[in-house]
Amino acid sequence: AMRLDLPAGVAARRIGRAAVIGAGTMGAGIAACFANAGLPVVMVDVSAESLARGRDTIEKTWAAAVQRGKLTAAEMERRRALLTTATDLAAVAGAELVVEAAVEDMAVKRDVFAALDTIAPDAILATNTSYLDIDAIAAATRRPGRVLGLHFFSPATVMRLVEVVRAAETDPEVLATGVAIARTLGKVPVVVGVCHGFVGNRMLRVRTTETERLLLAGALPYEIDAALTEFGFPMGPCAVGDLAGLDIAWRMRKAQGARAEIADRLCEAGRFGQKTGRGYFRYEPGSRTPIR
Ligand code: NAI
Repeated sequence: AMRLDLPAGVAARRIGRAAVIGAGTMGAGIAACFANAGLPVVMVDVSAESLARGRDTIEKTWAAAVQRGKLTAAEMERRRALLTTATDLAAVAGAELVVEAAVEDMAVKRDVFAALDTIAPDAILATNTSYLDIDAIAAATRRPGRVLGLHFFSPATVMRLVEVVRAAETDPEVLATGVAIARTLGKVPVVVGVCHGFVGNRMLRVRTTETERLLLAGALPYEIDAALTEFGFPMGPCAVGDLAGLDIAWRMRKAQGARAEIADRLCEAGRFGQKTGRGYFRYEPGSRTPIR
């Protein structure tokens, strides 16, 4: 059942050092969030290649910020020193919080949590899973009370929402720590219970489904987007899809045997959004503004 209440008057644990498991899209983004907030963080991945790519992505973001005058060179160096990488899970020892962002696979996550249980016996263990049952992940450890979900959104350094997921046995102190660390990272924590897709993705799914239905009924992408931007949304669903890349959801649907009539046909035609210059809208090379 959903348990959305945040315990009152429970002190959060101090987190002085963090670890992130997985150096992919989310792992690298989450590790960067810790370093950006001034916290030492170790990023662990089974693949040395993923680790190098993840670190490179993060450093490029920092370098671009320095170029734009948003970050000093000294601050970039400070952040680089805060971020370490390792292929051996044993490197998490000493971290008070571990955020797991490895592949979305229950067997992998349970293996990782069982190993973390021994390597980091006192740490709070969080998973960034989007859809897997966190109670089942927690059950791979001997201390399910110290397991919770910390669900970031992509790109993790930019998106402010973090769903703090309370599993069946999550201790109040652990939940309070999840909320506090999200705030430390400059995020907006929302406490949710274990359920399929939590809140954010469920709401987004409704929007995607209705966009499909309206397009099939003859509405145009810019009309749908204009209606929602008038309601105060910063961007319409079609522009957001083009920005994020339509191919990401397409690959996910294919893996699940699902189909979205319009979005799939766009992808089949190579229209992935801004990255290919065409999606719901067309774009001049390098431009983020749709051509009307
Ligand atoms: P990804 O495929 O980009 O990265 C996964 C990484 O995990 C790879 O670098 C892989 O080498 C590594 N890995 C695999 N097994 C491992 C193990 N045993 N130990 C350490 N590392 C291991 O995946 P992505 O997109 O970053 O997703 C990671 C998690 O975040 C998944 O649970 C996903 O559902 C969740 N998530 C993804 C979002 C997205 O927009 N991509 C948004 C929110 C959550």
